[in-house]
Amino acid sequence: MTKTFVCLPGDGIGPEVMSEAVRVIMALGYGFSEQPIGGAAIDTYGKPLPVHTMAACAGADAVLLGAVGGPQWDHLGGVRPEGALIQLRKELDVYANLRPARAEGVDLLIVRELVGGLYYGARGTREDGVVYDTLEYTPAQVERVARQAFEFARRRSGRLLSVDKANVLETSRMWRSVVTNVGLEYPDVELSHGLVDSVAMNLVMQPGSFDTLVMENTFGDILSDVAAGATGGLGLAASASLGDKGPGIFEPVHGSAPDIAGTGKANPTAMLLSLALALDYGLGEPDLARAVESAVATALETMPTHDVGGTATTSQFGTAVLDALGKRVPLSQLP
Ligand code: NAD
Ligand code: IPM
Ligand code: MN
Repeated sequence: MTKTFVCLPGDGIGPEVMSEAVRVIMALGYGFSEQPIGGAAIDTYGKPLPVHTMAACAGADAVLLGAVGGPQWDHLGGVRPEGALIQLRKELDVYANLRPARAEGVDLLIVRELVGGLYYGARGTREDGVVYDTLEYTPAQVERVARQAFEFARRRSGRLLSVDKANVLETSRMWRSVVTNVGLEYPDVELSHGLVDSVAMNLVMQPGSFDTLVMENTFGDILSDVAAGATGGLGLAASASLGDKGPGIFEPVHGSAPDIAGTGKANPTAMLLSLALALDYGLGEPDLARAVESAVATALETMPTHDVGGTATTSQFGTAVLDALGKRVPLSQLP
């Protein structure tokens, strides 16, 4: 049966970059359905993750997400567009979030724990007025993401840096000891530990010195934007969120970019490289993934968008990708 993508365009530049991914999906002959999420879903259905969107995602071969959120939904209090993503990740249990960053002399991979930590701990307001968010982990949650990180490190250069704040946080001390124990099963991988503040500095100063990194959810959120900043910007940064079973979620690291939404300036590279990750990890089509990646690399040379020093619009870039892809894959002969 034809493999099917569920596409969640979302808000701001989300639908703009998703349109370019859909053109590639259609050219490759795959099926897809578009479902509402985020602010767009709040506007129509009163909630950011409608039941039918969740059901469609659960039944997909891969879920592609554009971006959610924007200033027009910031006043809604608890009902936030971003809540959809937090819930979707949890329901699909995609605990290992791969955020690669590449540039000349840089090829690093952040493995971000995605369904625990500060994002999912107890939060609220106490009677005395104290507001709290809690960083919570079970050792099992740390162990499974650590194992994934070791597997990726083994397939890459054999070095893994575990990032924490073990000089202050109890969860980080547990994290460090669990990762160290998992490391005993990977004698071929050289494990080191770093504190998140100094790792952030080194990502800016010497991004080329890193290989595979693994870290808590919030640390990974922040450091993946830092890594993107050190390698060409958010317009280029893709991600894959994987669990042990069921579909993965493939989405840019960037958000809905309200400052450029509607101007045609959005760079669809991050979305298209996320589609490539979906072809690779979601559909088991590494050759097609490489073809999309190389078509995107060609378009970045010939048709750069504003964020990378060019003048091309989002759709002009997408057309250049399709042109380059047509030269590599006989598009009409695909399933
Ligand atoms: P952002 O990532 O949307 O934008 C940061 C900066 O990067 C902006 O100047 C933007 O113009 C630029 N940028 C981002 N993507 C780009 C692209 N593809 N091409 C060119 N330039 C690009 O971060 P923000 O402004 O802090 O957040 C805006 C909204 O997005 C917030 O509501 C936030 O919650 C949400 N958000 C959503 C996701 C997601 O859906 N996965 C991720 C991050 C932020
Ligand atoms: C990201 C985003 C999300 C996160 C938000 C929109 C919930 O910033 O994917 O990096 O914090 O995980
Ligand atoms: Mn983020």
